Amino acid sequence: MSARVLLGESGTEEALSILRRGEVVALPTETVYGLAGDAFQPLAAARIFEAKGRPLSDPLIVHLPEVGWLNRVASFESPEQQKQVEQLASAFWPGPFTLILKKNPDLPDLVTAGMDRVAVRVTAHPLFQEVLRRLDSPLAAPSANRFGRISPTSAEDVQSELGMSISLILDGGPCEHGMESTIVAVKENGLEILRPGPVTRDQLKEYGHLIESLGAVNIPGSYPGHYAPKKKLQIIKTDIIDFIPIPGNALLSFINPSPESVRHFSTLEVLSTSGNLREAAANFYAMLRRLDSSESDMIYAESLPEDGIGAAIMDRMRRAEYGSMNRSG
Ligand code: TXA
Ligand code: MG
Repeated sequence: MSARVLLGESGTEEALSILRRGEVVALPTETVYGLAGDAFQPLAAARIFEAKGRPLSDPLIVHLPEVGWLNRVASFESPEQQKQVEQLASAFWPGPFTLILKKNPDLPDLVTAGMDRVAVRVTAHPLFQEVLRRLDSPLAAPSANRFGRISPTSAEDVQSELGMSISLILDGGPCEHGMESTIVAVKENGLEILRPGPVTRDQLKEYGHLIESLGAVNIPGSYPGHYAPKKKLQIIKTDIIDFIPIPGNALLSFINPSPESVRHFSTLEVLSTSGNLREAAANFYAMLRRLDSSESDMIYAESLPEDGIGAAIMDRMRRAEYGSMNRSG
């Protein structure tokens, strides 16, 4: 069986009645589609983990329609932290930005996987905001993909990931950013970026000292092989595109490749013909997904500059490469 897909507003009423029953619905956000459940119904959180096949040790992001709801789910550790959070909130909320804060004890422990910290985001998506306001409860929502797979940026992508295990998807069209939110922890000695995303380092450094994480970023659900396609993916540099010797492979190119290099590949997707990194981010998951379901043997992905949102794209690309090359089973 597949999930029903309803266009935006026509499905809001049905989405609300499903959520009130403690069940789950896929909803569009400005980053990627989320699989949402009422954050204050532990059974709803349990259903999210089950539908995604996600380990219970991997906490969920809680979504709010406005910063005024923050005290329903979180609190501040000090007046200094409060001040800094208020500045960040007015700069980046609503938007593709998530903060790690002290958890309100009323919030079910399952949502935060037993941690005393909660990830919170005020989403800018009008449909998601409307559902939140009418439900009058925060929604826990991870990306609406099977655990470890490519994140969905359209209703069709959600259908192919989770259609068999959920009953309703609200279709809000393709996601604006196409890449998950930037996750930041506000610490005494500065801001720590736990996951790069649409809000960039350059934007964040205006609001505090950036703490350098040592080695790989450490958040529970961010292991090196996340976002893996089914086919093998290998990252290549632009100047070696011409040297892929074996035909029958796919190329995920940043900007238009030369005609000489195109003839080496059976399938091609171009992230941004004008070299715009925001456009590349918005296209990344959808194009990766198309190449993954093409006839080609393996996927070569061209590395791109790590400026701005390029850092987030390369983070996902490296994980896709690692996950596809080091598959267990
Ligand atoms: O843009 C987004 O953030 C999307 C949309 C749907 O809002 N959501 C999303 O959720 O990407 P998810 O679950 O796919 O990724 C959330 C990441 C996971 O790696 C999780 O481990 C981490 O955030 N996380 C959640 N709560 C945390 C916490 N309290 N402390 C540290 N990391 C946390
Ligand atoms: Mg995810």
